[in-house]
Amino acid sequence: MSYEFILVNPQIVPFVATIQLNRPKELNALNLQLMGEIRHALETFDADDSVRAIVIHGNERAFAAGADIKQMAGRTAVDMLQIDQFSTWDSIRRTKKPIIAAVSGFALGGGCELTMLCDMIVASETAQFGQPEINIGVMPGAGGTQRLTRAVGKARAMEMVLTGNFISAQEAKEAGLINKVVPVELYLDEAVKMAQKIAEKSPIAVQLAKESVLKAFDTGLQEGLYFERKNFYMLFATEDQKEGMNAFIEKRKPEFKNR
Ligand code: HXC
Repeated sequence: MSYEFILVNPQIVPFVATIQLNRPKELNALNLQLMGEIRHALETFDADDSVRAIVIHGNERAFAAGADIKQMAGRTAVDMLQIDQFSTWDSIRRTKKPIIAAVSGFALGGGCELTMLCDMIVASETAQFGQPEINIGVMPGAGGTQRLTRAVGKARAMEMVLTGNFISAQEAKEAGLINKVVPVELYLDEAVKMAQKIAEKSPIAVQLAKESVLKAFDTGLQEGLYFERKNFYMLFATEDQKEGMNAFIEKRKPEFKNR
């Protein structure tokens, strides 16, 4: 499939794919088609054995400045309900392979929410994160009030959501929203390096580990621990577990086969 608003590279380095948001003039504002394209690309990569980790990025000026305000402005509540854009977001959230957001410039509104849908965030020193929906008479709708609050705590989430203030990459790092801050010329490389490191591991172990960490958002501790335990036991049914442990004992590098 060819895409209009994203650029995909299924193999920027072995086993790592990238998706670049590509509406630069509109600061990568997330219209419905762009989100559908991201969903399609992620589903394609999820089904492709030659992809083990995915990096989503924008350009230096913007990761994404939010949902496309021009597309939304005239909509009614019934339109919004019937368009049901969040089923696309829900499918993105169900991607089995790890996704790293590489962020430079603006990550605002839906853009900030998209980074939080990813599993890790690497940012350039110029990145700014914010939920400015309050400035245009609405509020976050794609998880901002929930994921941001879990990531940075009530005080900072309230401030960002109620005042619309942005936070810098450094503040986002200190607050626990993101993983790393690097100079702008390195943010994409650094995210790809992180993805590459994950891609060296057993893909089945990575998938179940990701699923287990995400479970912590949806469950109480005891239920989460049972879920984790089942996934942990299940990995002992894989060839990759035998290979990983034997390689350690034999002092060699493991060769994982995703089996
Ligand atoms: C549509 C957008 C846009 C957006 C920027 N543009 N953000 N178009 N939707 N979210 C367009 C501008 O209209 C402009 O187009 C061009 O991109 C460049 O933007 P400028 O405003 O000229 O740039 P600048 O002065 O540098 O300001 C950058 C900015 C500002 C601070 C990021 O653009 C801004 O405040 N954008 C809106 C941020 C926002 O409110 N996001 C939340 C959206 S609601 P022209 O044609 O004039 O050149 C949301 C809900 C999510 O995300 C929940 C559902 C998924």
